[in-house]
Amino acid sequence: MNSCSFILFIFATIIFLPCLRTTEAASCHPDDEAGLLAFKSGITRDPSGILSSWKKGTYCCSWKGVTCETGNRVTLLSVEGYSDADETFLSGTISPSLAKLEHLNEIYFSNIKNIKGSFPQYLFKLPMLKYVYIQNIRLSGPLPTNIGALSQLEHLDLQGNHFTGPIPISISNLTQLTRLNLGGNRFSSTIPNIFKSIKELGYLNLSGNRFSGELPPSIASLARNLWALSVSQNNLSGTIPNYLSRFKLLSVLDLSKNRYSGVVPTSFTNLTRLYDLNLSQNRLTNPFPPLDVSSMRYLDLSYNKFSMTTIPQWVTMLPIINSLKLAKCGIKMSLDDWKPAAPSSYDVIDLSENEISGSPAWFLNHTIFLREFWASRNKLRFDMGKLTLENIRTLDLSRNLVFGMVPATIAGLQNLNLSYNHLCGKLPTTKFPASAFAGNDCLCGSPLSPCKPLRQKKRSPK
Ligand SMILES: *[C@@H]1O[C@H](CO)[C@@H](O)[C@H](O)[C@H]1NC(C)=O
Ligand SMILES: *[C@@H]1O[C@H](CO)[C@@H](O)[C@H](O)[C@H]1NC(C)=O
Ligand SMILES: *[C@@H]1O[C@H](CO)[C@@H](O)[C@H](O)[C@H]1NC(C)=O
Ligand SMILES: *[C@@H]1O[C@H](CO)[C@@H](O)[C@H](O)[C@H]1NC(C)=O
Ligand SMILES: *[C@@H]1O[C@H](CO)[C@@H](O)[C@H](O)[C@H]1NC(C)=O
Ligand SMILES: *[C@@H]1O[C@H](CO)[C@@H](O)[C@H](O)[C@H]1NC(C)=O
Ligand SMILES: *[C@@H]1O[C@H](CO)[C@@H](O)[C@H](O)[C@H]1NC(C)=O
Repeated sequence: MNSCSFILFIFATIIFLPCLRTTEAASCHPDDEAGLLAFKSGITRDPSGILSSWKKGTYCCSWKGVTCETGNRVTLLSVEGYSDADETFLSGTISPSLAKLEHLNEIYFSNIKNIKGSFPQYLFKLPMLKYVYIQNIRLSGPLPTNIGALSQLEHLDLQGNHFTGPIPISISNLTQLTRLNLGGNRFSSTIPNIFKSIKELGYLNLSGNRFSGELPPSIASLARNLWALSVSQNNLSGTIPNYLSRFKLLSVLDLSKNRYSGVVPTSFTNLTRLYDLNLSQNRLTNPFPPLDVSSMRYLDLSYNKFSMTTIPQWVTMLPIINSLKLAKCGIKMSLDDWKPAAPSSYDVIDLSENEISGSPAWFLNHTIFLREFWASRNKLRFDMGKLTLENIRTLDLSRNLVFGMVPATIAGLQNLNLSYNHLCGKLPTTKFPASAFAGNDCLCGSPLSPCKPLRQKKRSPK
């Protein structure tokens, strides 16, 4: 470094040092700081310290959950607990002073369980708001009838609150919406016919509410973009609409736990992108169309009025499938004849309440990643002592015709039910309750009554 550049260096340092200092001591916009601190003061309990970094006079853009994408204005606010940790919650109310955060683009409130109140009115004062996630909080009451005034919204996700009443008609004015999730609330009435103007919608979840009647005809206008439609656990009725087969991107379709009747449209063979199809717990009848779905991972057709006789060929041939549930589907085949194309992809199989015979031995030998096998109330007949159980965690074979001894390998399972079969002999040591072994021919030993030593002694000389 010659002396000239050294002097330049010193000069530059003198010039830029104050700049560095200013960024360090930067302050966010006073309205944003005031709005956030007022929010904090509406919170009466915060045991896990979700808001502990929110301190007056410190740079609010660096507070936990606060983001300023450009400049000193808050653009994103994320206050999130963990759904599985009881101690992460906030008690109190959401302060209306959040309206001061005028540049707010995205709001994520989730799993802060104890917040009470109604739909936050301050949202109407935030002109740049695009993404609203208010999930698993205890907000209640109806949605405001003028909710359509939030016309710039792209995502509206209110899953897991206690909202009631009908969906306001004005939602049809939220024409930018790509995601609408009202799942897990207490909405009622019929689903209004509002979808014609919300053509960009890709994700629609109305599950777990009290909707009744049929899907409104304007759902058909979502054909171009909708990839997920979930309306499970309501009181919807009628037949499954034919127009769904025109939804080229549809990969999640969950109509489970409603009162759908009639047949699944044959045009469903055109839904080649299905990944998760759940039609369980309805009143659907035969025939079920053969689907052309190499991407299927989750399939649940349980508890309808199907009488399938065999596991459909298109299911058997699926190249990868994680979860297959065909409980009470009227299947009468022998498991010995079932050789799925991709046994090692199965994670969960539920074939309960059919009339399936034979043995799962081949099948359990080849489904090396299977964690759960549910097959109660069938006619399985095989020697339990010969079963190899490697990775499986849950095995329910109750109410079948299984015979032989119970192998010691069952001790490695988490859940087991072998009740009401024809098993015999001394039980290996396990943690399972007596009800897992009840109703067999001659099982003995803990947790059932002790084996009879006298009779065994008499037999032993033979
Ligand atoms: C939708 O917005 C338009 C124009 O802003 C308004 O006239 C109309 O009343 C709104 N519709 C509903 C159902 O709120
Ligand atoms: C729809 O919402 C329900 C209830 O909140 C939730 O359990 C489910 O996972 C959601 N479905 C999808 C496809 O995201
Ligand atoms: C479900 O809807 C039917 C009419 O379609 C109605 O008779 C019944 O009471 C509803 N059930 C519940 C639990 O809301
Ligand atoms: C299908 O839906 C039912 C009820 O809504 C649920 O219990 C079940 O786990 C779902 N099946 C799959 C494979 O996700
Ligand atoms: C599937 O779609 C094609 C083209 O869109 C159509 O011609 C055909 O009729 C459809 N198949 C069924 C079973 O509806
Ligand atoms: C299952 O595998 C074991 C060895 O891992 C073998 O002894 C047994 O014959 C196999 N059973 C069937 C039905 O394939
Ligand atoms: C096993 O199944 C029987 C009848 O199907 C039931 O009564 C019992 O509670 C079950 N036991 C366990 C441990 O799951």
